[in-house]
Amino acid sequence: MLKAIIYQSKTGHTKEYAETLSKELKIPCYSIKEAKEKIKKQEEIIYLSWVRTTTLVGYKKINKKYQIACLGAVGAYPKNNEYLKQLKDYNHISQKLFYLRGGIDYQKQNKFYQKLLKLVGKTITMENPRDKEMTYLFETGGNFVNKKNLKPMIEYIKETM
Ligand SMILES: Cc1cc2nc3c(=O)[nH]c(=O)nc-3n(C[C@H](O)[C@H](O)[C@H](O)COP(=O)(O)O)c2cc1C
Repeated sequence: MLKAIIYQSKTGHTKEYAETLSKELKIPCYSIKEAKEKIKKQEEIIYLSWVRTTTLVGYKKINKKYQIACLGAVGAYPKNNEYLKQLKDYNHISQKLFYLRGGIDYQKQNKFYQKLLKLVGKTITMENPRDKEMTYLFETGGNFVNKKNLKPMIEYIKETM
């Protein structure tokens, strides 16, 4: 039985999706820290986290600790099936994975990540000079969190659980 949604979020996009999902499914959501006290090992959960240079942050650890019913990966890139497959392969994810577009919030990042993000942006611009949207996003930031992005995930959970 699904016990909770557990999430990891640095600048709030993943937290927002976790809270919306929690309301929709009527199950509680906890940060990883809160979950340590609230959720026992091997309980069934949904895991939401953010993407950092193709790594789904925290997945390896959480996958050992809990039974993950399905996952949500929150990243700044636009939703794309090929990218989703890459994330699945790269992180060795065996469960159903959904992509939820987050954004970039420079104000909530520390100096190190701010610099790293600018570098990622420059690389993207060099590789895809015509992709103005991505260049602009990595220069200025942006927020693409939208409740509608959760629809396929909610439908899947309601059908299978
Ligand atoms: C160092 C760093 C690397 C990132 N790498 C990626 C990436 O490879 N793909 C992607 O889609 N987003 C990437 N992002 C963007 C984050 O996944 C995005 O900002 C996400 O919304 C953060 O979620 P949060 O607000 O819950 O922390 C990166 C962000 C940082 C800071």
